[in-house]
Amino acid sequence: TTREFNLTISEVVGWPDGYNRTLTVINGQFPGPLIEVNMGDRLIVNVQNNGANMTTIHFHGMYQNKTNFMDGTYMISQCGIPPGGSFTYNFTVPDQYGTYWYHSHYRTQYMDGVIGPFVIHSQEEDDLIGDMYDYDQVVLVSDWYHGIAVGYMSEYLAPNNENAEPVPDNGLINGAAYFDCSLTPDDTCYQQDANRTVFAFERDKTYRLRVINTGAFAEINFSVDEHPLTLVEGDGTLIQPTTLHKLKVAVAQRYSVLVTANVTTTDTFWVRAELDEYCFAAENPILTDYSINGVLVYTNDTDVAAYSNNMSAETQSWGDVAANVQCLDLNNTSIEPMIVTPAAEATVFYRIDSSFQIWDYAIDLAYMNGTTWSPASSSILYQAYNMLAPSLSSTVEDNNSTQLLNTTGPLALGVFGGNQDQYIVNVPDYEVVDILINNLDDGAHPFHLHGYKFWVIGSGYGTFPYNDYGKFNTTNPMRRDTVTVVAYGWVLIRFVADNAGVWPLHCHITWHLEAGLLMQFQVQPKKIAAFEPPAAWAQLCEA
Ligand code: C2O
Repeated sequence: TTREFNLTISEVVGWPDGYNRTLTVINGQFPGPLIEVNMGDRLIVNVQNNGANMTTIHFHGMYQNKTNFMDGTYMISQCGIPPGGSFTYNFTVPDQYGTYWYHSHYRTQYMDGVIGPFVIHSQEEDDLIGDMYDYDQVVLVSDWYHGIAVGYMSEYLAPNNENAEPVPDNGLINGAAYFDCSLTPDDTCYQQDANRTVFAFERDKTYRLRVINTGAFAEINFSVDEHPLTLVEGDGTLIQPTTLHKLKVAVAQRYSVLVTANVTTTDTFWVRAELDEYCFAAENPILTDYSINGVLVYTNDTDVAAYSNNMSAETQSWGDVAANVQCLDLNNTSIEPMIVTPAAEATVFYRIDSSFQIWDYAIDLAYMNGTTWSPASSSILYQAYNMLAPSLSSTVEDNNSTQLLNTTGPLALGVFGGNQDQYIVNVPDYEVVDILINNLDDGAHPFHLHGYKFWVIGSGYGTFPYNDYGKFNTTNPMRRDTVTVVAYGWVLIRFVADNAGVWPLHCHITWHLEAGLLMQFQVQPKKIAAFEPPAAWAQLCEA
């Protein structure tokens, strides 16, 4: 089946939480429309850019096998869609299912509103968990800022700011929240128009909530008062059902939880998205409570608009879950169906040191092995595809890094002497790749690899235990596309380099990505030359 969607990007003034600001939105709505397909479908997405800036649309977590040019990453897999321009994304979804999302991958643009949920259904998934729930719905949670993203960026990178990320002004649940306008004298605050998101549940039915963190920065603890959550999916991987009370979701991660409407004491409950302040560099001067609330109401009336004015609840938050003091991911070790990792030791091993560095002139940029990314003047894939190798060859590092095992000093690989903006590691063949990401920074980073799901082989605080390499659990570790590396910690991830293309590995915190915390893997370059991108793709770079 072919499914076609039209997405028109434009700027509007809106007030998701009652605070008036300029948004960049899709089809005049925020969040963007749900894109829902079945595994095996061909998806056609016509993007018309009526905004004032460049745009691209990235389908987060898609393998894009043989269609790397549809990955939607600005100046990596494609050149930008200019204001007034258009581009059609066209690819099939052959072998993955679950909960994903799509977003602009042009600089910090997604934070201004260019986001939406993306769900892939499949018979395979239905056979495994379809009987466990009656209804299915998406829940987008995010932090929220009252100004446009580029404005914060200059502040963030300003001299002497010491890597203090912009602190969110609020948070949103499905694009809405309530902001108390009495906290600010600002006359662009319209609290009377701000409505909490209402979830209408039929009593005794079970709902699959697909929780997606579409934010810029904050980890979010999601919960529903008095309702346990049964975790069944993370990043498109099914998990053997686990019950919990609060679900921690880092930026760009997704989880499905099952919630049964069977509480008899009352029929109105708070739904909570608590922004994890632990990770904030500073307090927000006006907002002191980072618990963003929605309301769950038991009703057979699905017309939630009738309920949304000043809807509130009186229930208490789960008391048994202490506030988070760490930014660790859930440790979901049992996945379903089980996929054993391919080898006890990988064929190649890369060590990536990620850090922030304050230079003499105090400009704070992010580094991966001593390199900081900024968009190239043309897309890297376009250059590779056209064999314009001269610009690439000086920066592509060949696969000769196995000797890095047992090295302990920082920046062991790829010290290019400063400010190189394209750090590309070449993986010439089908190989089992282990990547050790060392976080030399005092903040947590949700790292995302495009084009793959990877196994999370290990993670921890402090220095990677090199002597244990080869001894980690490889029988059934979590398989996902976004993983948190804690402050001064490490993760070891493994993927099979079976998908040709140029794939970024980056921190998904918008501020960190824009500060350069991105590198690229060029996988099976010989196959890149055999790609068949549409003429319109090349034209974006030739315009
Ligand atoms: Cu959600 Cu590089 O992407």
